[in-house]
Amino acid sequence: MTRIAVIGGDGIGPEVTAEARKVLDVALPGYEATEYDLGASRYHATGETLPDSVLDELDGHDAILLGAVGDPSVPPGVLERGLLLRLRFAFDQYVNLRPSRLWPGTSGPLADVKPGEIDFVVVREGVEGLYAGAGGSLHKGSSAEIATEESLNTRYGTERVIRDAFERASRRDRRHVTCVHKANVLVHAGDLWRRTFAEVAADYPDVDTDYQHVDAAAMFLVNRPQSFDVIVTDNLFGDILTDIAAAVTGGIGLAASGCVNPDGAHPSMFEPVHGSAPDIAGQGVADPIAAILSVSLLLENLGHNEAATAVGTAVGDELSGRTPGLPLSTSDIGDRVATRVSDILG
Ligand code: NAD
Ligand code: IPM
Ligand code: MN
Repeated sequence: MTRIAVIGGDGIGPEVTAEARKVLDVALPGYEATEYDLGASRYHATGETLPDSVLDELDGHDAILLGAVGDPSVPPGVLERGLLLRLRFAFDQYVNLRPSRLWPGTSGPLADVKPGEIDFVVVREGVEGLYAGAGGSLHKGSSAEIATEESLNTRYGTERVIRDAFERASRRDRRHVTCVHKANVLVHAGDLWRRTFAEVAADYPDVDTDYQHVDAAAMFLVNRPQSFDVIVTDNLFGDILTDIAAAVTGGIGLAASGCVNPDGAHPSMFEPVHGSAPDIAGQGVADPIAAILSVSLLLENLGHNEAATAVGTAVGDELSGRTPGLPLSTSDIGDRVATRVSDILG
């Protein structure tokens, strides 16, 4: 029996996760779900973000489905670091996989780009870089205050995520990997990334490569996103670039991700790229497609390829088959995609 842990989290997290669950129910009948009450309300009630006992229980699941965490009532970083990043780090989810497609029926800001022409994946390093938590502050609150945030990059961590990107590229049609960093300024980490990239590339003679500085990559994602196939980059660059990628492919409400532990030693976690969107929470207007596409990534990760493809097809049909002007609520969209998935799978 497949065991899925579900963490709705904060804001629109529980709303979109409920719709993703509807789709999972039809795509993977008979799975066992465990709901975990984590996020702002638990923090206010108990002071806990992620107790060790819960972490241990989560580790016993096959995968985690997460909505979003973060709430204006909690100081910034408490839930983001104490819950979300703690999970990514504890379960060594070093591949943060963020596919971007311009889906049929959607349009991006580029008038001349047609659906199907943008199809790339960002392989974002998930457990190192500026996220590692190294740094601190001195003389806080005084005019002499100093704050540092250090980027941690290891040869081991860099090599394994770059290798994962090459493995993915070698299974894709275009077989191209772009390494994105800022080696012209970040000479220590940038040099490690570029050298490691070149060394790993030598093992994949059938995969083409290039390198871009992150500022140029941000521009190319906007003015020629069709040119990308696989992008491998560090944690913070990947965070920023994938919001840009979402914006050029129909919006953040469609962008899915997987925090993957490729070794399978711990569960991988699937979540929308977006956050808890406090500005629209509770209104039933959040787009659940990102959470639903995260279910597709989850199914693929667990080897349920037919079900994963069915969810992707159902989303494509849903986006291209909409009646212009017909308003759809969060739950309308979940219902419609779930029905389509069940029709496809019979
Ligand atoms: P956000 O992604 O929550 O929202 C940015 C904008 O996108 C908002 O206008 C929001 O309404 C819109 N949006 C997001 N998801 C949408 C959806 N599914 N449908 C329609 N519109 C959607 O980013 P933010 O405002 O920077 O962050 C809000 C909170 O979420 C913060 O606490 C932040 O730390 C947290 N956050 C969590 C995650 C996560 O859990 N993975 C990711 C990003 C941000
Ligand atoms: C994301 C989010 C997280 C990140 C935050 C909330 C820790 O922005 O998943 O993209 O920066 O990775
Ligand atoms: Mn982000």
